[in-house]
Amino acid sequence: MKSAQAWRLGMKDMQILPAPRQRGQLKKPTWIIVLVSLVSLFLVCAYVYPPQNSSACYVFSSQGCKALQSWLPPTPARELTDDEIASRVVIRDILDSPPRISTKAKIAFMFLTPGALPFEKLWDKFFQGHEGRFSVYVHASKDKPLHFSRYFINREIRSSKVVWGKISMVDAERRLLGNALKDPDNQHFILLSDSCVPLHDFDYVYNYLMYTNISFVDCFEDPGPHGSGRYIEYMLPEVEKKDFRKGAQWFTMKRQHALIVMADSLYYTKFRDYCKPGMEKGRNCYSDEHYLPTYFYMLDPAGISNWSVTHVDWSEGKWHPKAYRAEDVTSELMRNLTSISESVHVTSDEKKEVQIKSCLWNGSERPCYLFARKFLPETLDNLMLLFPNYTNYTSI
Ligand SMILES: *[C@@H]1O[C@H](CO)[C@@H](O)[C@H](O)[C@H]1NC(C)=O
Ligand SMILES: *[C@@H]1O[C@H](CO)[C@@H](O)[C@H](O)[C@H]1NC(C)=O
Ligand SMILES: *[C@@H]1O[C@H](CO)[C@@H](O)[C@H](O)[C@H]1NC(C)=O
Ligand SMILES: *[C@@H]1O[C@H](CO)[C@@H](O)[C@H](O)[C@H]1NC(C)=O
Ligand SMILES: *[C@@H]1O[C@H](CO)[C@@H](O)[C@H](O)[C@H]1NC(C)=O
Ligand SMILES: *[C@@H]1O[C@H](CO)[C@@H](O)[C@H](O)[C@H]1NC(C)=O
Repeated sequence: MKSAQAWRLGMKDMQILPAPRQRGQLKKPTWIIVLVSLVSLFLVCAYVYPPQNSSACYVFSSQGCKALQSWLPPTPARELTDDEIASRVVIRDILDSPPRISTKAKIAFMFLTPGALPFEKLWDKFFQGHEGRFSVYVHASKDKPLHFSRYFINREIRSSKVVWGKISMVDAERRLLGNALKDPDNQHFILLSDSCVPLHDFDYVYNYLMYTNISFVDCFEDPGPHGSGRYIEYMLPEVEKKDFRKGAQWFTMKRQHALIVMADSLYYTKFRDYCKPGMEKGRNCYSDEHYLPTYFYMLDPAGISNWSVTHVDWSEGKWHPKAYRAEDVTSELMRNLTSISESVHVTSDEKKEVQIKSCLWNGSERPCYLFARKFLPETLDNLMLLFPNYTNYTSI
């Protein structure tokens, strides 16, 4: 879009460049020189501002436009800064290195919570019998929780205050990843909140995440005020508006991706400084919804699923998603959630465009969700009762 405007600007500039009032007096050689300069200028402009969308082609027929594009040299990519070059070689090398072979590959379950974990009992049931195939990390940012499950005792990492919507949220995610990466057997990393519950049994979750080579990071383009409307030009040159993406914060990541998150300071710093609440009058940005989606979109778009495996229900259209109460938690609800096989994104502009995609796992359709939120603590008893029932009928 920007380049299309620049292109039109270029055309306008060229129209006022020659001095037509002298035309009558021009002798033939001068005329040729003016003509040649005009044509060269036009070509230079077309090279610097190549038409990139059809609306920019209004001066040509669409075929003419294609022809013009095909005989112009390709647009030179923006020259990367030293920091970007350094950052990209490190990231490329990590992504190209083969995954570490581990005979006892584990999944790291990373809980980001203000304090107590209301579903510890349910998770305890989920983990039972699978010792050696998972590890648990807890980042309790406010109150030290009391644990009773042996899987959670002494699994807390050093934490720091987390303020909703601020960079401290991303910092806590990075702190969890950093701690979990210390164990070389951890091959996949899941970020969970205190209101998350499992939708499938352990084996299903383990196989779903381990036997595919992508990370489940939510990512989509929202042209509306809650998407690209939050972008600010201070992020240039490294982060362009066309690359700005949105997604839910609850991710799962393979080890290489966790490493490239650790390796990043360039893009992280941009988001820390320019994507925050109250950035400018009436402009709020939330790094936890934009940093990782944008980072992965720019550096490894094919390596992510583009949907989150943690379900949440925004259908009530409120500021917060639906929070399930005890009476909501029925066998029917849980079966519904476990069998959803399409992911939905809605843009925040007037169009409210609904993007629906099948969830493809290793190329074939599978249930989208492994976890769901937000469940109120009062749902625990129902969930404990229903868990064996809603998790026993599927295998991947
Ligand atoms: C993934 O798909 C490929 C090709 O269809 C197949 O060979 C492979 O076994 C699949 N992997 C799993 C874990 O199903
Ligand atoms: C994942 O594996 C598939 C084959 O199963 C391959 O086509 C694809 O390129 C791989 N993706 C990544 C990000 O390695
Ligand atoms: C996710 O979206 C990107 C484009 O943004 C695409 O290249 C990639 O293939 C998508 N991932 C999957 C698993 O389809
Ligand atoms: C379950 O899904 C069916 C079919 O989409 C729907 O009619 C029903 O209301 C859902 N039940 C619950 C409890 O969400
Ligand atoms: C378990 O699921 C079956 C089939 O959906 C249902 O008929 C049964 O009532 C459920 N059991 C409990 C305890 O909810
Ligand atoms: C799942 O378990 C529940 C309760 O243990 C049982 O009622 C139901 O029939 C089982 N469903 C299947 C498909 O095995």
